[in-house]
Amino acid sequence: MTIEDKKFKTIKVEREDGITWLYFNRPEKRNAMNPTLHREMWDALVELEQDPETKVLVLTGAGDKSWCAGQDIRETFRDRIRERENNPGARREPGGPRYDWSWGLLSTFAAPTIAMVNGYCFGGAFPALIACDFAIAAEDAIFGLSEVNWGILPGGVIPRVVRDVMRYRDALYYVMTGDPFDGKKAAEMGLVNRAVPREILREETVKLARHLMEKNPHVLLGAKEAFKVSQDMNYAQARAYVGVRERAMIATDPEKGREKGMSQFLDEKSFRPGFGAYRRE
Ligand code: ACO
Repeated sequence: MTIEDKKFKTIKVEREDGITWLYFNRPEKRNAMNPTLHREMWDALVELEQDPETKVLVLTGAGDKSWCAGQDIRETFRDRIRERENNPGARREPGGPRYDWSWGLLSTFAAPTIAMVNGYCFGGAFPALIACDFAIAAEDAIFGLSEVNWGILPGGVIPRVVRDVMRYRDALYYVMTGDPFDGKKAAEMGLVNRAVPREILREETVKLARHLMEKNPHVLLGAKEAFKVSQDMNYAQARAYVGVRERAMIATDPEKGREKGMSQFLDEKSFRPGFGAYRRE
């Protein structure tokens, strides 16, 4: 059975020409994340990471209104608060670690990941947005850290990770005001790479995915890990770790990319690394 045939209730998977489209799929609830969605995302990501057809993963929202409206305020908050009150001795929070698919799995996913933000992106959707390696938004998409508007805090990893991609003043402004902002503003602040007119959002996403597919996937994973893991290290640790990571990558590269690249540049003189990837054939 392929992953497309699985009977997911809250997500959808489509694979086409190396791109796997993973959808939040509750458009009638603006793609808010309920406990079922968290479990299904976890299961799908575990499976897709092993899938050779998934060269690039695009995370997007079903329908034309919303990427993801954050946590489902009824099911993930009100119902869980009641469950907790009814069962104070529960060993673990209902849902458990699978709630952490975005930071736990997506941020380290083995293939490149792109958030294609096609509408609302609120609150609890931010970790998934920032966990993706790239983000392209529709200019008219609406973002917001709306938690303070209804009496909670931007929780979990949010205060920590918004600072990874936004400037201090911008991040604190939106953490404290809960004000909405559009895709253009998100791009200006660095929360997404680019904002484009909605009509060309998919086309631009596919273009970026194809560009990534020209490169050696083993090297891309090494580059992503070296970048992400070294952020929390001091300079000496980072230099040592990246050196070891690179040696491991070169030693295990099934494509022997470094040799190919050097030979095509130095011997054949058939490509210039400054302008693009070596021929992978
Ligand atoms: N949780 C639960 N249900 C939601 C959520 C959500 N986060 N967002 C939307 N819905 C539901 C609505 O309750 C409504 O359900 P109903 O048809 O059964 O009444 C349906 O989705 C459509 O919502 P509307 O408000 O009617 O749609 P509209 O397009 O006018 O507005 C918007 C969409 C702006 C997303 C609005 O629904 C909203 O503000 N939602 C909350 C967004 C938010 O603050 N998210 C952060 C939650 S906190 C956190 O994630 C940590």
